[in-house]
Amino acid sequence: MKNISQRISLVPASPIRKLVPFAVEAKKQGVTVYHLNIGDPDIKTPDVFIKSLQNWKRNPISYGQSQGDPEFLEGLKNYYHKLGYPFIQIAHIQVTSGGSEAIGLTFFAVCEPGDEVLTFEPLYTNYNSYATIQGISLVPVLTKPDTGFHLPKKIEIEEKINKRTKAILICNPNNPTGTVYTRDEIEMLVKIAQKHGLFLIADEVYRDFVYDGNKHVSLLDYIEKMPNQIIVLDSMSKRYSLCGARLGMLISLNADLMAGILRIAQSRLSAGLIDQAMASHLMEVPSSFFKEVHKEYQNRRDILFEGLSKIPRVTLEKPEGAFYCIVGLPVLNAEDFCKWLLTDYRLHNETVMLAPASGFYSSLGKGKNEVRIAYVLKISSLKKAITILKNGLIKYLHTKNTRLQTRK
Ligand SMILES: Cc1ncc(COP(=O)(O)O)c(C=O)c1O
Repeated sequence: MKNISQRISLVPASPIRKLVPFAVEAKKQGVTVYHLNIGDPDIKTPDVFIKSLQNWKRNPISYGQSQGDPEFLEGLKNYYHKLGYPFIQIAHIQVTSGGSEAIGLTFFAVCEPGDEVLTFEPLYTNYNSYATIQGISLVPVLTKPDTGFHLPKKIEIEEKINKRTKAILICNPNNPTGTVYTRDEIEMLVKIAQKHGLFLIADEVYRDFVYDGNKHVSLLDYIEKMPNQIIVLDSMSKRYSLCGARLGMLISLNADLMAGILRIAQSRLSAGLIDQAMASHLMEVPSSFFKEVHKEYQNRRDILFEGLSKIPRVTLEKPEGAFYCIVGLPVLNAEDFCKWLLTDYRLHNETVMLAPASGFYSSLGKGKNEVRIAYVLKISSLKKAITILKNGLIKYLHTKNTRLQTRK
């Protein structure tokens, strides 16, 4: 029998999901596991979407159109107009099965195998997966905790550009660091992309999650100036608590690129019709929903930051947006610690699940003593999770030291 492909073995397991079997086992034993590992919003989906599902009448449930359901596309167009981009037309929007599909489509649309996409690490782990699947090299420029993971100088970015570089990809607000880039930073990238003739891709799925009164700077501000180079990736998942609906979008004014992407979209037929019919009500979501959600996440961010900052030798920067942060721990191997929390540690029969951060770097060996935390838990649970993490860390360090001393 023939072997399965070698290339499939290169695709990394998700650092967010790979410890799931240990969490499942703990839960089977009756243990409560607080999930700080995944950004799946726990805030209730707006009623208008749920009602639309309850009123579903169409039978049979057919395929949708490949570009997207016309009513959903119309709703999206109105959304971008309201956001301040009245030039965006339906022809500039491709509906995708989650922002995830938009990432894969964009890589395919701008790169040949072997081409390079420059991005900033720590990075959203699935960029790595999609690049690997397509034989593209992700070239990371390191961002560091001491500068709040903001961008390095122009020269450090330009140093990584060569003739195989096709695009710069930025995630803003950033998963996993929570960094929100300033207008100066975005304009620096715009200038670099202009100078080197590169595509400039922004993943803006966390656009609405920006704290402390700061404003998100969208690449849509620059898309008319660089209509053929800028691509914006977006998603319904986080903004509307619709992760399970699997709906995202890709925005570009480049007609050739959009035509090519539509051809691929035709090969996968369509995104889910029921999901799109439901999501077409997006403009009916009351603004109070976003106000509440924003307030809740900023509160969670504050509680997490304050709680973790008090744990000795734990380091983190205050996240400016999204609902994640990278946390440095006084351990040699954060993955071992994360696993141990699930297999060996309980505080009043409860534990926490974290995501080891090494999978959020594409450079080998980076992030070994870091975890990524998603603060997607209600405040009472978040407080408990912080206490468990603190006590677990003390116990883990004690256990490891005892083991080391016994070995000596
Ligand atoms: C930065 C970023 N981009 C894209 C996605 C994809 O989300 P979805 O496929 O649910 O739209 C995620 C999901 O966590 C994300 O964090």
